[in-house]
Amino acid sequence: MKEHYYLDNAATSWPKPEPVYTTMDKFFRSYGVNPGRGDHEMAVEAENMVSETRRMLAAFFNFGGDPNRVVFTQNATDSLNIGLYGLLNEGDHVVTTRLEHNSVLRPLNHLQRDHGVDVTFVARDAQGYVDPEDIGRAITPKTKVVVVNHASNVLGSVQDLEAIGKFSRETGSVFVVDTCQSAGVLPIDMDDLGIDVLTFTGHKGLLGPMGIGGMIVAEGIEVRPARVGGTGVDSVSPFHPDAYPYHLEAGTVSVPGIAGLNAAQKWFAELGRQLLGSAAGNVSHTQACRAALGHVHAVERAHTERLESAFRDLEGVTVYGPNGARYRVATLSMNIDAMPADQVGAMLDADYHVCVRTGVHCAPLAHKDENTVDKKGTVRFSPGYFTDDEDIDQAIAGVTELVTG
Ligand SMILES: Cc1ncc(COP(=O)(O)O)c(C=O)c1O
Repeated sequence: MKEHYYLDNAATSWPKPEPVYTTMDKFFRSYGVNPGRGDHEMAVEAENMVSETRRMLAAFFNFGGDPNRVVFTQNATDSLNIGLYGLLNEGDHVVTTRLEHNSVLRPLNHLQRDHGVDVTFVARDAQGYVDPEDIGRAITPKTKVVVVNHASNVLGSVQDLEAIGKFSRETGSVFVVDTCQSAGVLPIDMDDLGIDVLTFTGHKGLLGPMGIGGMIVAEGIEVRPARVGGTGVDSVSPFHPDAYPYHLEAGTVSVPGIAGLNAAQKWFAELGRQLLGSAAGNVSHTQACRAALGHVHAVERAHTERLESAFRDLEGVTVYGPNGARYRVATLSMNIDAMPADQVGAMLDADYHVCVRTGVHCAPLAHKDENTVDKKGTVRFSPGYFTDDEDIDQAIAGVTELVTG
């Protein structure tokens, strides 16, 4: 019997790989200081770690540009706000989808209400997939930004970024992608997919701590800074520097958070090298991490398949989102027809120690389309890489007992 059966990795991954804990502790104790070039030895060591993390993340997302264009923020919400407010002006049009998280919807709603930006919310099919042609049809000559969530945090469906990116590129709009639910699980090739602004959060699939996120801004894309202030460089200038990463990084960033992300990146690469075995040779960080991601996705997928097939077999249960073999991440939403979602979550927690998330998951339009608002949203199970069969057995047993009484 475990104390907790944690199936809430879409909210935040837990546990983290062991080196994330040990590295953060070591960072704080040995050189947990403000990074700075050319200052004292400890500051240089901290700066080197931060720069190394930018390089690893650039490689992880296959971004061939200057790693200084990997900018650290607090989280994906912060990155999306910086990106959307920094790109859009009065009179601009934005294309997005009805699957977005509030970290996209709310900035866009505020920009629409208060700043004269026009927004089109593209529909999706019953399983949670947006037809890229619909994105193409929604683009107008005024479209400045196309912003989509790669993988839905409610349904787990994964959008065809390649096809959407093609429409965005052909029409000269800026392609912004929210990778919160896919980074650390699916390979994402920023350059090949034509992503102009890739936003990520550190604490979900990337297996880092909370309070660290980021964005990668392709060369040639101009994002106005949301905040200006101290950067430690060019301090005599009355104005904020144009050079990246400082352009979008003002004030002290979460260096302990970056240390955790650094350790998580090395953990992915190490896992990939172990999986490749003798074929690992001198593989790059990108290649090693790609091998790891294939494995992580397969492990998580197997857990989701077990949950999905057990839930679909139960009378009185509705499972939402992708059916069968469509490309998806591990996030799985369901409801017990006779009970509101929050009651199911509370009973799973109290009686079975199963940790799931219930509610609207900050994606209100997804729930309006599923007619789940009156059910108080859905019960969301999200296995992670460290989930084991016992967690899944317990979840299935709990739901089965709740349904069959
Ligand atoms: C799809 C999606 N986008 C954005 C976010 C926001 O992430 P954060 O809270 O780390 O800013 C989340 C978090 O739940 C999410 O699932």
